[in-house]
Amino acid sequence: MYLNDIFPSVKIPIWLMRQAGRYLPEYRDTRATAKSFLDLCYSPDLVSKITLQPIDRFNFDAAIIFSDILVIPDALGVKVKFVEKQGPILDKITKFIDLNIPTNERFTKFLENVYLGIKKTKDILPKNKKLIGFIGAPWTLSTYLIEGQSSKTFSEVKKIAYTDPVEFNKIIEILAEFCILHTTNQIKAGVDIIQIFDSWSGILDSYNFNKWVISPTAYIVSRIKEKYPQIPIIGFPKDADFNYLEYVQNTKVDILSIDSNIPITWVNENVKDIIIQGNLDPCYLLSKDQELLKKQINNILDNLKHREHIFNLGHGILPNTPIENVELLIEQVRNYEK
Ligand code: CP3
Repeated sequence: MYLNDIFPSVKIPIWLMRQAGRYLPEYRDTRATAKSFLDLCYSPDLVSKITLQPIDRFNFDAAIIFSDILVIPDALGVKVKFVEKQGPILDKITKFIDLNIPTNERFTKFLENVYLGIKKTKDILPKNKKLIGFIGAPWTLSTYLIEGQSSKTFSEVKKIAYTDPVEFNKIIEILAEFCILHTTNQIKAGVDIIQIFDSWSGILDSYNFNKWVISPTAYIVSRIKEKYPQIPIIGFPKDADFNYLEYVQNTKVDILSIDSNIPITWVNENVKDIIIQGNLDPCYLLSKDQELLKKQINNILDNLKHREHIFNLGHGILPNTPIENVELLIEQVRNYEK
């Protein structure tokens, strides 16, 4: 797949992970009108309003639908709460049978408002902008299901994955099926691109990375491609380090999103024949020194000058990011001579 087929009118497309969020005053205003974060995610009007806020303000090339990877566990009967300053808290599971697996129809019905939010957004989004839908990959979802929250050591989920792979595989397989269904539903509702977030892939050894990151992702990609070969798929196995190489070869994603720790020079030399997205450390956007920020942006642009590149960060934009730095970033990317 060529970048020009996806974004015909721009040389270096740019969007940012978490581009709709707490660093924007308009988001904070909208957030204050709802009781909880999930109420926002399940209101089609607010989903489309928030998704479009960063497009209106910054004219990014793509909008990512305002939602969360944890709507899948929520739809599987594992209650999810977002607690201020703590992040997500889930009713934990330890075994496959702890899941309350719905029929496909009930799953789709449960997330109906997410899909209505996509439809609404797609209707309003200017035609030259792309709409990105997303899922959390089965491995990352399983960490939240089994740890019940973001963890420091991930010892509970790793214990099951490493010592009871038969039981763990049942959990991963069912998550993969619902990842495929949620992706398909988002495509039917109007998204143009899919991003697969595997935020915690970096905590696995190589053997388990293959088993729990690459295999299920390869399966999901192949099932989506069977039905929708034209939909680009972005893979983001965060902190995969040299495993990025095997991930690209074996999952067949179209675009690789990379974190900030991996040297851009290593990626350039070793990960061939794929569109690259990401890498700028979101912390540079906190800088008071705009020259420093420019230098970091240019370093990525220069390194990827001769290949297909979507500008993005190595992880989500931080809530305390000054708006002027986002403006400077966009200007710098737009004015770059490729
Ligand atoms: O990128 C976007 O703008 C689209 C929306 C989006 C959100 N979450 C909104 C959100 C996306 C793509 C996600 C993905 C997501 N959610 C991931 C994968 C990417 C990553 O960050 O590694 C993960 C692991 C989650 C789970 C999650 N959701 C956590 C750990 C948290 C708490 C951390 C935090 O920033 O508060 C959330 C909450 C969340 N998801 C917020 C937003 C805007 C903040 C909620 C608020 O406004 O209070």
